[in-house]
Parts: sequence; structure tokens; C-alpha cells
Amino acid sequence: MKTLSILGSTGSIGVSALEVIEQNSSSLRVLGLAAGRNVERLKAQVERFRPTVVAMVDEEHAVQLRNLLGSADHTKILWGTEGYREVATLRESSMVISAIVGAAGLLPTLDAIEAGKDIALANKETMVMAGGIVTEKARSCGVRILPVDSEHSAIFQCLRGHRREEVRRIILTASGGPFLRVPLDKLAAVTVEDALRHPNWVMGKKITIDSASMMNKGLEVIEARWLFDTDIDKIEVMIHPQSIVHSMVEYADGSVIAQLGVPDMKGPISYALFYPGRCPGGLTRLDLLKVRTLEFLPPDFERFPCLRLACEAGKTGGTMPAVMNAANEVAVSAFIEDRIGFMDIPAVIGQAMALHQFREVESLDDVMEADRWARKTGEKIIKKIKEKS
Ligand SMILES: NC(=O)c1ccc[n+]([C@@H]2O[C@H](COP(=O)([O-])OP(=O)(O)OC[C@H]3O[C@@H](n4cnc5c(N)ncnc54)[C@H](OP(=O)(O)O)[C@@H]3O)[C@@H](O)[C@H]2O)c1
Repeated sequence: MKTLSILGSTGSIGVSALEVIEQNSSSLRVLGLAAGRNVERLKAQVERFRPTVVAMVDEEHAVQLRNLLGSADHTKILWGTEGYREVATLRESSMVISAIVGAAGLLPTLDAIEAGKDIALANKETMVMAGGIVTEKARSCGVRILPVDSEHSAIFQCLRGHRREEVRRIILTASGGPFLRVPLDKLAAVTVEDALRHPNWVMGKKITIDSASMMNKGLEVIEARWLFDTDIDKIEVMIHPQSIVHSMVEYADGSVIAQLGVPDMKGPISYALFYPGRCPGGLTRLDLLKVRTLEFLPPDFERFPCLRLACEAGKTGGTMPAVMNAANEVAVSAFIEDRIGFMDIPAVIGQAMALHQFREVESLDDVMEADRWARKTGEKIIKKIKEKS
């Protein structure tokens, strides 16, 4: 029996992970759940999965959950940083699924690594902000980081059984999102609803907006650089609108190995949970005769400036990826709240990066300081954009 804790159980990945656990209840059991503010959903999860410990973002939400569950329920309910730490480091769990969205996922993921838990990593922002620190800590604690992002799960599978020194390039595929074919001059006026209409994947709001701007792919380039210890120049992005080929690896002899499957996160989640084996069943099968056509196109950096900015931040390294990530988080929130337009997102990130005094990352404090600085600076830039409009 594999025992698990989930950070971000009420989100899109958390819910899919619980579906996989439910379908495989004879081999997987969840003991700890951490959510943000969704009390109703966490209550339902507690009643269904009976974890021993759960945590919410603050005391107010923890009290709401206690009231909803009633005094007959004996689940330990915690909150805040300490609560997340307890779920992440639960003695009886052997693996932690890291699926909180954004920078908030970094510290509990590091806590889990320090406690020796294997990590099924969905929270790509962890790697973007502090990939060097996270991979070094995982190495020194003897912890495996198994990718949950579908592209990285694909690359991980394509690399298995091959020599790393024979890899010529890693090809990350991207659907291109809802704006792949929208005329360029219409992009500034797209709405939040337009951006949330992803053609192939159903995901949380932030990653869906990131997919529309292709920031998501930029974050994934940096994530791949750390997960696979690869020179960033060896990672290429290719648009593949069908989202069937999840990514590819090209080897020295010209052979390209790809991983294919239906676009369903239960696939990569299962792969991480059952590694080195495979999930015994239950996943939707791919019917290539129905798909018929697989297209591949080069990315358009004019249409997707966020992709260019993220790749630049990845190449610069040091504190720049953390700054780019935080500026993106505040810009995406401002877009969702209708404070700025869609094409203001790259403007905010670009300006924050231009203002940042880059430095090498020597400790986690350097990362957290860069994150704080970029959030403050991003908000100031957003204010100026609003004043001008
Ligand atoms: N969705 C996908 O298909 C997909 C694919 C690949 C990678 N990922 C990555 O996986 C992560 C999660 O994505 P998602 O789509 O599942 O996001 P989501 O649906 O928005 O869920 C986010 C989860 O994080 C929790 N959360 C939000 N803010 C928090 C905070 N400040 N502190 C603690 N918990 C907080 C939410 O709790 P409440 O809802 O209770 O507030 C929820 O459980 C992201 O890093 C994303 O890039 C997602």
C-alpha cells in the first residue's frame, strides 16, 4: 500500500489525483490533505477519503471546516504554514503530491523533501523559483522527484533506458491555447472568459491563463532544465494543437522518441504514483484512427511574448526566474480581476525583469526576497498601466 499526502487537494490536479486513488484503493491510500479556501470541497474529501490530518489556509477556514464536519468527526484540522508543514511531513506518508498553485507551493514542497518524502510534482513554480535548491535538497535527502506535468512525465518516460549524454534535444509540445489563430491585433481585447476557454485541457484558472499566454510553456522550459539537468539551449518548444504527443526526446543518432496519450492528467498522475510500474487500468485509451492528424508548428514569439520572457529568465538564471514568476502571478491575478488587459501581462513581466538587479541564488532567502520584490514592483507597474488607460 502506498501512502500519500496531497498539497492542493481541492484543485484540478488534487481532484484528479483523488480519482486515481479512489480507482486504485487497494494499492493507494491518502493520509493528509491540504487545501486553500474551498471548505465545502475539502469537507467532501474528508468524508470520502478519511485522512488523518488536513490543513487549510488560515484559522477562519479551519474553523469553518470543523463546524461543517461536526464534533463527531475526529480528523485533525490545522491551518497556515505549520498546518501545511504537518501535512507535507506526515510520518506515515511515503509520497507527497505537490499541487498547490503558484509560489505558495514552494515551502511545503521543500518541507516534504527535507522529511524524505518522494515528490509527485505538479507545482512547476517550485522548480522555476528555486530549481537549484530543490534538486540539490532532493539529492542530499535521497528523494525522488517524479514529474506530474504531462510534458515532463512524457520526457521522463522517453528518457528511461537511454543514455543522458546521447540526448540531442528535448522537445516540449504546447497546444498553443485558445489564441493560437486569433489575429494579433485582436489579442489586446480578449476577455478573461476567452482566455479560460482552453481547447484541450480542463485546469485551474491560473495555469489556464498561463496556457493562453504560453507563459505555461516558458515555466515548463525552466522546470525541464532542472528536472532533467539539461542545458536550457537543448530544450525546444513546438506547437502541437492536438495535445496527443505530450513531448519528445531526440537522440544523437537522429531518433526521436515521443510519448502519446489522450489529454487527461490522470495519465501522468498515475505514472508518478505507480512508478516504476504502470497503473493497472482505468485510463482512457488513445485511438489514433480517430485523431488521424498530428500537426507541429514553430512557436510565434510575437504572439506569445511571455514565452520569450520566461526563456530569457531561464537563461539568465539566478533570481531572474523567481522575479519573472512572481511578476506573472500578480499580472495574471490583475487580468483575472479585470484590472489590466491580456497583453499587459507580458508588459508587467518585461518591465519587472528590466528593473531587477539580477543576483546569484545562494540561499532560499535570495529567492523569497526576489519574489517579494517582484510582487511589489509588479503591483506598482500595474497601477501605472491602469492610470494610463
Ligand atoms: N491542472 C492541470 O492540468 C495541471 C497540469 C500540470 C501542472 N499543473 C500545476 O499544478 C499546480 C496546481 O494546478 P491546478 O490546475 O490544480 O490549480 P487549481 O485548480 O487552481 O488548484 C490549486 C490548489 O492550490 C490551493 N491553493 C491556492 N492558493 C493557495 C495558497 N495560498 N496556499 C495553499 N493552498 C493554496 C487551492 O486551494 P482552494 O481551491 O481550496 O483555495 C487548490 O487546492 C499548478 O502549479 C499548475 O501549474 C496543473
